[in-house]
Amino acid sequence: MDTPRIDLPISEIPRQWYNLAADLPPAPPLGPDGKPIDPAALAAVFPENLIEQEVSSQRWIDIPEEILEILLRWRPTPLRRAYALERHLGTPARIYYKDESVSPAGSHKPNTAVAQAWYNKQAGIKRLTTETGAGQWGSALSYACAQVGLGCKVFMVRVSFEQKPFRKVMMQTWGGQCIPSPSRETEAGRAILEKDPNSPGSLGIAISEAVESAVSDPLGETRYALGSVLNHVLLHQTVIGLEAKQQLALAGESKPDVIIGCAGGGSNFAGLANPYVADVLDGEEIEIVPVEPEACPTLTRAPYAYDFGDVAGMTPLLAMHTLGHTFVPPTIHAGGLRYHGMAPLVSAAVKAGIMQPRAYGQLECYEAAVTFARTEGIICAPETSHAIAAAMEEARKAKESGEPRVILFSFSGHGLLDLAGYEAYFAGALENYPLPEEVLARSLAVLEHLPKPE
Ligand SMILES: Cc1ncc(COP(=O)(O)O)c(C=O)c1O
Repeated sequence: MDTPRIDLPISEIPRQWYNLAADLPPAPPLGPDGKPIDPAALAAVFPENLIEQEVSSQRWIDIPEEILEILLRWRPTPLRRAYALERHLGTPARIYYKDESVSPAGSHKPNTAVAQAWYNKQAGIKRLTTETGAGQWGSALSYACAQVGLGCKVFMVRVSFEQKPFRKVMMQTWGGQCIPSPSRETEAGRAILEKDPNSPGSLGIAISEAVESAVSDPLGETRYALGSVLNHVLLHQTVIGLEAKQQLALAGESKPDVIIGCAGGGSNFAGLANPYVADVLDGEEIEIVPVEPEACPTLTRAPYAYDFGDVAGMTPLLAMHTLGHTFVPPTIHAGGLRYHGMAPLVSAAVKAGIMQPRAYGQLECYEAAVTFARTEGIICAPETSHAIAAAMEEARKAKESGEPRVILFSFSGHGLLDLAGYEAYFAGALENYPLPEEVLARSLAVLEHLPKPE
């Protein structure tokens, strides 16, 4: 009998995270003076224990038992073999996907939310602020804060807030407070609204609001949590790839030929891919493909440069692929992929030629999502549909060449709260938004006066 699910026993859950920074050190973040930032300067934003992880060059970092206890409620997640999709496509490829949609919030985001909430609690912090695009991260952090006993305030990108009203209710149910961004609560939000009262918002704007809200707590009891991009976030997500490696071995596969994940800030993709990057650096041949929307083509069309992580310029300068920190992406339904930058670790790997990024239009992605739902049965998040579109393209290529390639992709989340996007797709109301060259050039102008990475 074909077994469409490969489970890992609970006892085999990874007990350490893998830190790619040990094998591929990223360029250092810079402060306002253009010099490498002193990690202590981040203390108003993050607790010391997470700053330590952010700058760590240790290859393996132990996962504290109390974090494991929470992760074990849904981990190890299943690795699924997409037999039904393979049959539908008539491909000789063997397609596997790591199903992160089984977490309480419905995506990979709780893997780091739980860790971040726990470390903040250990440091004596009382509440966290954050941004959220699609709402997945805001709900994950609200869930995690409820588990460890912290308050949680979420600035949700306005267009997603309107597209996905039930994400707010989810956050509320877990005790989180959800505010549409740009808001009147912060100086950064008010400045944006003054210029554009109808601003749809962006992750870059929401990050500015959340950081400002954390650092302006007069009691100093609030810190900020980021759902992607930073080294420690990618670190926490490596449980995905470490489990997948063991599960592929159980399925009798020696290695994947291609690894695929959608990339917004890069965390689910890197969570799956980074443990394999170590093998590629050791000479293994694996194609590693981050996938982004053509409306927000950070890796495929934007330069590797120093830039701020947020619109207001409150964060350190990060060396990354970036569309420019003031870029407001078109309002595609994959809200979690609407970010101007990309994780420095992923950006450095792309620059080193270790990863081969790709971009797709949203129509092709929804078509892939619908095919996936009608074959494999799971309705994916609009972000995840980008990984599915790429996996299907690989499977078709394998059909043409007759090669039985092993395809592994990250199924980052379900779309049960994203049905408005599907409704718009079925109504024929969606279009592709390839980013016009002149918009890209204008938005890159903000990088001109910033330092350049080597
Ligand atoms: C389901 C899902 N997948 C992917 C992403 C993109 O984020 P990242 O690139 O950090 O994995 C998001 C972000 O909100 C998401 O909700």
